[in-house]
Amino acid sequence: MIYANYAATSPALSPGVVKELCEYVGGTHLNAARNFEGLEAGAIALRARQAIGKLFNAADPLKVIFTSGATQSLNMVINGLIKPGDHVLATSVEHNATVRPLEALRKNGVIEIDWLPCEPDGSLDAETVRKAIRKNTRALVMSHASNVLGTILPVVECCRIVREYGILSILDTAQTAGVLPFTPGDYGERLADVITFTGHKGLGGLAGIGGFVISGEASREMRPWISGGTGSASHSLEMPEFMPDKFEPGTQNTIGILSLAVSVEEILRISIESIREHERALMVRFIAGLREIKKIKRYGTLDPDRSVALVSILVQGYDCGEAARYLFENHGIITRSGLHCSPLAHKTAGTYPDGTVRFSFGNGTTEAEIDAVLEALSKMEHAVS
Ligand SMILES: Cc1ncc(COP(=O)(O)O)c(C=O)c1O
Repeated sequence: MIYANYAATSPALSPGVVKELCEYVGGTHLNAARNFEGLEAGAIALRARQAIGKLFNAADPLKVIFTSGATQSLNMVINGLIKPGDHVLATSVEHNATVRPLEALRKNGVIEIDWLPCEPDGSLDAETVRKAIRKNTRALVMSHASNVLGTILPVVECCRIVREYGILSILDTAQTAGVLPFTPGDYGERLADVITFTGHKGLGGLAGIGGFVISGEASREMRPWISGGTGSASHSLEMPEFMPDKFEPGTQNTIGILSLAVSVEEILRISIESIREHERALMVRFIAGLREIKKIKRYGTLDPDRSVALVSILVQGYDCGEAARYLFENHGIITRSGLHCSPLAHKTAGTYPDGTVRFSFGNGTTEAEIDAVLEALSKMEHAVS
């Protein structure tokens, strides 16, 4: 079996994560959790906040908020920060996790949206952002990299531009957290006001955990979108104003948070730079091999320096679902076909409504696996000739 679907979810937890999770659910941790529930959960959450704060170059771990994933984070942030009458900018390669909450507000007459047009390969000229700014523009919501085309968007430049106008920047790092470095001064609190992340892709945690990192100013402006008990300020009928309680009501997903703490600590030890270099080298090999195979149409920039380890393709003579099934049934290769929850990105690429077959690789992918995928694709080419 070859797993080429890292963009959807990471295939396995690391042995280190499994060990700590087993200890937590099966051992002394459980008793500790039962007896001192809040204390134990709080210590685990702080450990995860510190690791994630380091990863995103965010100075204050209390501004790292946990949610069930990027989808919940984007819903909370969009609904908590955007007000009636606002104008919002977002790109034409956004995932439905951004598109649907924004479109729901637009449909109800609450906001106006401009979908900034990316090129068919997913790239965006940052100046497009400046040209679209209006008097009532409140926020820019954008992906760090497209989950359909792999293209890395110019988030540094775009966030800098909107900041000049006092406009909020909200980044969706579902495809880049744990994969691309967040260099001090480039990303993090200083550049984007909010960075949303999911735990089960590049960060190597369990499904059902994610969160966002928020600047002090944005955290004061943002309204809690989900309310409930926080175990603090219990006399009050309203959510507390202090962090992280303001955005973390209810019993938290401590086991998910623990998985993130351990996996992000491992990523920091391995170093993001070496993960990126490995994935870049895989892309160099994969793209060079793809170019040799006729009857394949490739999408995205096909430039390993401007892309995460992800390529969408179409094989002549196959519908994308058939191609994915062929690869799985004949070669044990797991890909993802269809629209990948990003209809706008497929409209941008010209692959709507049928979609593409997406290959996405990760830190566990080997060069031998890339070669085996290329070999399978060239057999497919012969199957249709
Ligand atoms: C770009 C992008 N944003 C958001 C999401 C949503 O992430 P989750 O399902 O973990 O909430 C995904 C997941 O596929 C994604 O690729």
